[in-house]
Order: sequence, then C-alpha cells, then structure tokens
Amino acid sequence: MRVLITGAQGQLGHELMRLAPQGFETVGMGSAELDISDAGRVAVLVAELQPQLIINAAAYTAVDKAESDMERAWAVNRDGVAHLAVAAERLSIPLLHISTDYVFAGDAREPYRECGPTGPTGVYGASKLGGELELAAKCSRYMILRTSWVFAAQGNNFVKTMLRLGRERDQLGVVADQQGCPTSAASIARALWTLAMQYRDLGSLHWGTYHFSGTPACTWHEFALEIFRQGHQQELITKIPQVRGIDSVEYPTPAKRPAWSVMDCSKLREQLGISQPDWRLELAAVITELAQSEVA
Ligand SMILES: NC(=O)c1ccc[n+]([C@@H]2O[C@H](COP(=O)([O-])OP(=O)(O)OC[C@H]3O[C@@H](n4cnc5c(N)ncnc54)[C@H](OP(=O)(O)O)[C@@H]3O)[C@@H](O)[C@H]2O)c1
Repeated sequence: MRVLITGAQGQLGHELMRLAPQGFETVGMGSAELDISDAGRVAVLVAELQPQLIINAAAYTAVDKAESDMERAWAVNRDGVAHLAVAAERLSIPLLHISTDYVFAGDAREPYRECGPTGPTGVYGASKLGGELELAAKCSRYMILRTSWVFAAQGNNFVKTMLRLGRERDQLGVVADQQGCPTSAASIARALWTLAMQYRDLGSLHWGTYHFSGTPACTWHEFALEIFRQGHQQELITKIPQVRGIDSVEYPTPAKRPAWSVMDCSKLREQLGISQPDWRLELAAVITELAQSEVA
C-alpha cells in the first residue's frame, strides 16, 4: 500500500517514516517538496503519486507566532487540510489527520470527549479546528486524531528545551497550573500505522474523530521533574536543577494556553483497540535515543 506522508520532516512525520511497517511503501514529503497550502501542487502531486492512503503530519505548529502570523496559520492548518481532503476524495482514498487539544477552551475539569463543545482560545487552535471542519466536509473517509504535548528526539519540544535549560541553569520556574498529557511522536506514529493496517486488512475503518494522548495526566512542572530525573539518570545532564512550580501568569505568552488539556481517549480504545501509552516509558525511549546520539 502506497502512503503519502506530508510534513515528513517534523516530529511526527519523522517517526512515521521511521516506523512504517512492512508492506507499506512510504512517500514522505517535506514542506519544500509539498507545501500543502498550494492547492494546485497538492492536486498535481497526489494525482501523479496515486497513493492509496494519505497521512497528514504537516501543520503550522508555532502556537505563539500564529497570533501575529494568522494568514499563514490558516492557510496551512485549514486550507492545506482542505486541499488534501479534496485530493483524497478525488481518488476515493482515506486521509488520516492530526489535530490538537487546543481546539478546546481548556477550562473544563473532566477529560474532554470527542463530542464535547470546542472553543479554541488562540489562532493555532482555531485554525486547527478549521482544518477538522474542512476535512469532515470534503472527505468521506477520514480520521482525525487529536493529540497533545508532543515530544520526540527529533525536532523542537519541551523535553529538549528542559534538557538544555538543565545544562544552562541551576534553578528554573516551570508552569504548575496547567494539566495535560505528554505524548511521544513515536506512539502517535504507531497508532496511525495500526489504523493504516486495519484499513488495509479490512478495507474500511470506523471513520471520525478520536482522542489519543499519553497517560497519566500531569502538569508541565511534573513533566519537567521527570525529564530531569531521567535525563540525569542517563547522564544527559550532570546535575538536577531546582525546579520551582509557577503560575501561568508568571510566564506570559502571546497565545493563551489551556489550563486543562486532558482528553478522554476511551473511544479509540473501545472502537479501534488502541490504548494510551504511559508517557514516562515513552520518555525513557526518547532520553535513551538522545543519550545514544550524544555518544555517537
Ligand atoms: N507539537 C505539539 O505539541 C502538538 C500538540 C498537539 C497536536 N499537534 C499536532 O501534531 C501534528 C504533528 O506535529 P509535530 O509536533 O510533528 O509538528 P512539527 O514538528 O512542527 O512538524 C510539522 C511539520 O509540518 C511542516 N509544514 C509546515 N507548514 C507546511 C506546509 N505548508 N506544507 C507542508 N508541510 C508544512 C513543517 O515543515 P517546516 O519545518 O519546513 O515548516 C514541519 O516539518 C500537527 O498536526 C500538530 O498540529 C502537535
């Protein structure tokens, strides 16, 4: 089965390429080869490649920059998804797409369910929601996996930022009033490949929107403490810095962050047999990979 993977050089795209199971021919396209906001290019390339499945790992992910770079964020996260959806529909093939916890307002106290009301508070979340709506309107066989707090050995993310700060500083403050679920890019890639295999074997899937994130929920502060503990154990940092829990107001950002980013992932488990990974084990794999790449 030939699978077109967009955004192939991002955190998730990289893992999708790396973890492709046998029997799948992957065609990975970085942003330079395929800009998904270019409708003509998407149409021509998909028609030429004739994939049997598309996985869209491309997105405008600079959450703060999106507040001042709205046009580009909407062009990629909404219009780009629409172009892919049209191209997939033309070939009668499915499109697997990734979305975010930021489509929610972040003021709940119960885990968000797929059917719950959305209410993004920033441009990034709004543009990602725009992509979800375009996909549902333009493609009959689609799957949206909403995920959160993505980390990997490749790319820029919280884990790598913390490890850098751990080397540079003796103490730091990390936000302790936002709850969420760290998710490794590798675990998302594995979930997507499981879905792709189910589709290949069964010829169909339970299409729709699903939540997928790591477990258990934690704060950024708790996540940082675990990163430092494991990073120190694997000698990526020589000392564990003092980490003070701070309130979001002490760390202002252009885009407001949700205080509550916990999603209920039971639908994916019950309908498609995919369980939530323990992010602490996923983190251990990433830290090991980083330690090995330092030695190499
Ligand atoms: N990162 C998170 O914490 C997080 C949380 C929740 C959901 N998500 C979602 O998870 C998915 C994967 O994110 P990620 O963490 O892998 O992000 P990432 O590392 O930033 O990767 C995104 C990739 O998309 C590419 N891209 C940007 N604009 C493009 C365009 N117009 N056409 C084609 N490619 C383009 C980027 O290429 P360039 O670098 O060359 O621009 C980059 O390689 C996204 O849908 C994201 O919204 C991420």
